Amino acid sequence: MTATMHEPKTSPEIGGLGHSRRRVEDARFIEGRGHYVDDIELPGMLHMAIHRSPVAHAKIISIDTSQAEALEGVLAVVTGELLAQYDLAWMPTLSGDTQAVLATDKVRFQGQEVAAVIATDRYIAEDAAELIQVEYEDLEPIVSPQRALEDDAPLIRDDKEDLDSNLCYTWESGDKAAVEEAFSKAAKVVALETFYPRSHPAPLETCGIVADVDSATGQATLYMTSQAPHAHRTVFALVAGLPEQNIRIVSPDIGGGFGNKVPVYPGYVVATAASLVIGQPVKWVETRTENLISTGFARDYYMKGELAVDGDGRILALKVDMLSDQGAFFADAQPTKFKAGLFHIVTGSYDYPAAYVSTRGAYTNKAPGGVAYRCSFRVTEASYLIERLVQNAAYEVGMDPAEFRSKNFIKPEQFPYTTPTGFVYDSGEYEKAMRLAMEMVGYDEIQKEKEEARQDGRLVGIGMASFTEVVGAGHGDEYDILGLRMFDSAELRVHPTGKAILKLGVRSQGQGHETTFAQIVAEELGIPASDVKVVEGDTDNTPYGLGTYASRSTPVAGAATAMISRKLREKAKKIAAHLLEASEDDLEWEPGKFFVAGDPDSAVTIQDVAFAAYTNPPPDLEAGLEGVNYYDPPNMTYPFGTYIVVVDVDPGSGQWKVRRMVAVDDCGVRINPMVVEGQIHGGLAEGYAMSSMQYITFDETGNCIGSNFSDYLIPTAWETPRFELGETVTPSPHHPIGAKGVGESATVGSPAAYVNAVIDAVKHLGIDNIDMPVSSDRVWAAMEQAEG
Ligand code: CDP
Repeated sequence: MTATMHEPKTSPEIGGLGHSRRRVEDARFIEGRGHYVDDIELPGMLHMAIHRSPVAHAKIISIDTSQAEALEGVLAVVTGELLAQYDLAWMPTLSGDTQAVLATDKVRFQGQEVAAVIATDRYIAEDAAELIQVEYEDLEPIVSPQRALEDDAPLIRDDKEDLDSNLCYTWESGDKAAVEEAFSKAAKVVALETFYPRSHPAPLETCGIVADVDSATGQATLYMTSQAPHAHRTVFALVAGLPEQNIRIVSPDIGGGFGNKVPVYPGYVVATAASLVIGQPVKWVETRTENLISTGFARDYYMKGELAVDGDGRILALKVDMLSDQGAFFADAQPTKFKAGLFHIVTGSYDYPAAYVSTRGAYTNKAPGGVAYRCSFRVTEASYLIERLVQNAAYEVGMDPAEFRSKNFIKPEQFPYTTPTGFVYDSGEYEKAMRLAMEMVGYDEIQKEKEEARQDGRLVGIGMASFTEVVGAGHGDEYDILGLRMFDSAELRVHPTGKAILKLGVRSQGQGHETTFAQIVAEELGIPASDVKVVEGDTDNTPYGLGTYASRSTPVAGAATAMISRKLREKAKKIAAHLLEASEDDLEWEPGKFFVAGDPDSAVTIQDVAFAAYTNPPPDLEAGLEGVNYYDPPNMTYPFGTYIVVVDVDPGSGQWKVRRMVAVDDCGVRINPMVVEGQIHGGLAEGYAMSSMQYITFDETGNCIGSNFSDYLIPTAWETPRFELGETVTPSPHHPIGAKGVGESATVGSPAAYVNAVIDAVKHLGIDNIDMPVSSDRVWAAMEQAEG
C-alpha cells in the first residue's frame, strides 16, 4: 500500500510531479525490443574471447599462443606483452590505482585476463582461447585481508615500486580524543564485530562492448554497457591516448547495472585496441561466469563497532574499526578524498557528539571489489553496522529498540544537522517514519505475541532499521572521481511545435529515467510529459556528466533538469509578454500557460510560445528555446526511513520465514510514486538476498565459489517476501523540486532489519550476532552452540 501524500499540481494530461505515469520504456522492454550491446551487429564485426587465469596467484613463466593462432578463423591473439608495446598493458582505475589489462608479470586473482583471441565468430574465439597454454609458477594465494596484512605475507602488488606491504589504504574520520573521553564516561559499552560478505551485483545483462575504430578517420565508436559513458570516454582518452573528440561512447539499453557497470574493465580496453589495430569492429560480451568471477564485486567488510551509552540509554559516542578486502586492484570508483567511500555516514540517524572511524583496505588475491552495489560508496556496510549496533545496544540497556532509537534520533528541528564525521544532513523526520512503520506492522501486538509464542515453543522475532543514507554526490569541491567534479547536466530543447527533447549526462539502467525526467520538465514548463523525449547514453549527443550510480540521478541530473526548465520558462515569459503585448511583470503562470493577471482568457500556451520562439521572437531576444544546465549540488541529499521485519523461526531447524516486511521510505518529493515503489521493491529484494542467501566466497586456494547461479543464490519471486510500503515526505530544502534519491535506499537500509528480526527471535539464547548471510543453517548452528 501507499498513498501519495502530495496532490499533483499538474493535470494528468500534463503529468508533472506526483503522477504515477506508466513507464514509457517498458513497451519496448516487455515486447523484447530493447536494444542492448549484444544486439549490435556491424559489417565485418569480429568476436573476442578472453583467456583467464585458473589460479589466484602465480608468476607467468611463458604463454604459448601458437595453437590458438593456428585455428582457422583466428585473426589475432593478444597478450600483455603485445599491449605493452603500445603502453597499454596497464590502465588507471577510477580509484587512482593501476590495473593490469592483460597480465604480463604474474596473475593476481582467479579469472584475471591473461590473453585475448580475436576471431571471425564467437565459437572460434572461445575454442582458441582454450588452446592458449600458460605456464605458471604458483605463489601463495592470499584470500583474506587479515592474512594480507601479516608481516610474512607475500607482496601482491610488486608492480608498485613504492609499496612494501599489501596495505591498500588507511583513512580515518572524526575526533579520536573526544571519543576516548566519551567512552571513559560511559555506563555501558556495546560492541559488535561483524562481517559483511562479498557480494556481486549480478545484473541480468553481463558487461560487454562493440568497439568500432575507423582507421581512416580515427573515429572510435564504442557501444558499451556503461553507467558512466562520459567519464569512461575521458578514461579511454587517457588510457589509449585517443583524442577525446574522436571517441564516442554509446551506452544503449542496459539490463541492470547496480554498480557493476561503473568500472572500466580490461575487456573494453583490449577490444578497442584490437579494433584499432585490425581495423574492424570487435565485439566482446562476457559469459555469466566471467561476470561473476572477474567484475565489480561489492562489500567484503570486516567491521568492529562500539557504542558508548549513558545510564539513561543515550548514545555518547561511536568508535568503528574497519578492514576491507579490496581484491588485487583498487578499481572501484571512490571520491578521491574518501578512501573508504562514504562509510563515515556510519553515525546513522542518531544525535551524539563524538565518533571516530578508522579504516584500512588490503590487497588480496581476489577480483577487484568495492563497487557501489546499489549503494553510495560503502553506505550499505555503514548502515548495516549502526543499525545492528543500535538494536543490540537497546537489548543491553534493557530498552525497547524503538524507544532506544526514539531517544537518540536527531530531531526535526536540529536540521541541517552536522554529524560528528562531518556530513550535513539536509532534512529528516525520523520519529514520524518509525511510528508510521510501527503502526502499519502492529508493533505492540507483535511484541506481545513474541512472549506468548515462546511459551508455546514458537520463535517470533521483530527487527527494525531506521536508516539514513547519503545520495547525490557532489558537491564538486568535496566529491570527485579522478579529479572530475561530481556535477551533472541537462540540456533541454523545445521545438517549434512545443515538443521537447531532454538530454542528460546520466544513464538509466532500468530506473525509468525516460519516464520520470520528462515529468520534471512537465512540472516546470507545462509541456505534457508525453511530449518530452529523454535521451541518455551517447557522449556525442548529451552534455557531460558523471553517470548514474549511488542514486545520484535525481539529486543531481534531476536538479539540472528543473533548473534548465526554469531558465527556459523565464525566456518563455519574455516571449509571452511580446505576444500578449503586455509587460512581463503583469504576467501570471499556471502549468502550461501565461496570462495577463486578472484576465485568464488572454492566455498564451507554452506551445504558442515555443512556436513564436522560432517564428516571431521579440526583436531584442535570441531566437529558439533551448539551453543547458550543469548542476553542482550545494550538498548531498539524505533519504531515510524505517523498515520493520517480522520473522518466524522454526525452533527445530533454524529455518526462518519473513511474515511481514513493512518499509516506510522518505525520499522527499516523489516524482513518480509508482517508479519509486518499484525501486523500493527491487531494493528490498536485494536486501533480503544479502541477508539470507546471496554471497560469494573463496576456498583457501583463491578459487571463487559463486561462479554460477547454482552456487551464487539470487532469490526468485518464490523466495522473495511480500512488501508493504508506506511513505513520509520531507523535502530536501536545497533541491529545486525537493526530491532526494531513492534507488538504493532499500538495499542499504533493509539487511539490518532482516537480520535484527532473526536475532530478536533467538536472542533469549544469548545470541547477539550471526554473520551474513543469516541462512537457516547458520541460525541452527548458532542455536545449537548456544544451547550447548
Ligand atoms: O540514480 P538512479 O536513477 O539510480 O536513482 P534515483 O535518482 O534515486 O532514481 C531512481 C528512479 O526513481 C528514477 O526514475 C527517479 O526519477 C525516480 N525517483 C522519483 O520518482 N522520485 C524521487 N524522489 C527519487 C527518485
